[in-house]
Amino acid sequence: SQYQIAVVIGSLRQESFNRQLAKALIKLGPPEFTFKKLEIGDLPLYNQDDDANQADSVKRLKAEISASQGLLFVTPEYNRSMPGVLKNAIDHASRPYGQNAWAGKPAGVLGISIGAIGTALAQQHLRNVLAYLDVPTLGQPEAFIQTKDGLFDEAGNIGAGSREFLQTWMDSYVAWVRKHA
Ligand code: FNR
Repeated sequence: SQYQIAVVIGSLRQESFNRQLAKALIKLGPPEFTFKKLEIGDLPLYNQDDDANQADSVKRLKAEISASQGLLFVTPEYNRSMPGVLKNAIDHASRPYGQNAWAGKPAGVLGISIGAIGTALAQQHLRNVLAYLDVPTLGQPEAFIQTKDGLFDEAGNIGAGSREFLQTWMDSYVAWVRKHA
């Protein structure tokens, strides 16, 4: 069967390393998996007063999550946590109370940063939030990626040094989605 994966990128930056990583990573998926990036840059700031009257961008986000069989989070680390834009999107789709769009969707979490600990703390905070939202999240292998020359080749694919590792990651993620979807 076919699987649609909702990809959530935690950076709005045009040249984002996380955006590049997501783009290269999804090419390692099997043909039955299609990956759709969710737009989170046009969401308003979450305000509980709007729960009964969600913005169109929020309704679209929730519909795209609901139509997917899995989630893929690729996020930078901001000040040792996940970026506010990502948390904002998560909060939006978790509401109104009782209508949490994320619930039950199997997820993978990874990220890339300049720093040596490669988004480990952002990912840990994100895992905490996803656990509460009833999202089963792939535990192993973990992927903490640091930017370095050669990570991507000229065509934007994963470079030779990390390709095998990230292929193993993708294969594990695919098995996780198949098991839970
Ligand atoms: C950062 N950066 C960063 N890096 C890291 O490893 N740990 C951190 O806690 C932080 N904190 C942080 C805060 C803020 C506000 C910014 C703007 C940046 C650096 C970060 O890894 C770098 O900017 C990446 O390029 C961000 O990811 P994208 O946008 O390239 O995907």
